[in-house]
Amino acid sequence: MRLLDGKALSGIIKGQLKQKTAALKERHSKVPGLAVILVGNDPASEIYVEMKAKACAEVGIYSVVHKMPETVGQDEIVDTIRMINANPHLDGLLVQLPLPKQIKSEALLEKIAIEKDVDGFHPHNLGKLFTGLDTFAPCTPLGVMRLLEEYQIGVDGKNAVVVGASNIVGKPMAALLLNAGATVDICHILTGDLSEHTKKADILVVGVGKPGLITGDMIKEGAVAIDIGTSKVEGKLRGDVEFESAAKKCSFITPVPGGVGPMTIAMLLSNTLKAAEINVTREQ
Ligand code: GUN
Repeated sequence: MRLLDGKALSGIIKGQLKQKTAALKERHSKVPGLAVILVGNDPASEIYVEMKAKACAEVGIYSVVHKMPETVGQDEIVDTIRMINANPHLDGLLVQLPLPKQIKSEALLEKIAIEKDVDGFHPHNLGKLFTGLDTFAPCTPLGVMRLLEEYQIGVDGKNAVVVGASNIVGKPMAALLLNAGATVDICHILTGDLSEHTKKADILVVGVGKPGLITGDMIKEGAVAIDIGTSKVEGKLRGDVEFESAAKKCSFITPVPGGVGPMTIAMLLSNTLKAAEINVTREQ
């Protein structure tokens, strides 16, 4: 069994991005810019946004966080999105999820300029992803693909099983695996016998937020297990895969923490740089 070390790989990627942002500044006097909208006081979201801002600073990306109160109205957030859409210094824009109950998230995401949608959550960009066109792919699934690539784990012709069918993780994950030539099962809350699917997986990707959902007996010998889940249990981060029993079956497995999490942030930086580079080319 080998660990898929997302922490180490994200460090290498950040080093490369730092060089690329320096080159963009040197050649085009362009500093990539990212705007983050954070609504309310969800402690996990606050930590994620802080980590994103810190990572931006590390690689030379300018970032700004628009903090809005829990009680904010839909229109106020839309106004802020419009303001950021119109600001040429801000190449990327993301709205940290989840949002408070009174906000219609889907309607908001559609207001983000498609060329600034570095999270890849706009239906336009998700549609491009599903048709195999170049676009901003959502950061967590993109980070999983980068990990697989780095460890030279081939995807084409493999059975991939994605557990979780959210718009921001499961569905785009399935699209990326499909585009890379895998046969893909997507399992979700209504899937009858989950282990019937997971036992077929050469590559098993799990992102549902149910700690220890997948146990070793649900995994095929020699499979690759990618754990996207991060839940706090008694103060410690736990994934959706029960590590001890799963590791005995797997050829590769991601740790939690230190697996997919750091890759998500590295891919956000990468997408932001991509947006800035496209802007520079467009201005020429
Ligand atoms: N909430 C949990 N993950 C994410 C993410 O990747 N992007 C945004 N915007 N919100 C999230």
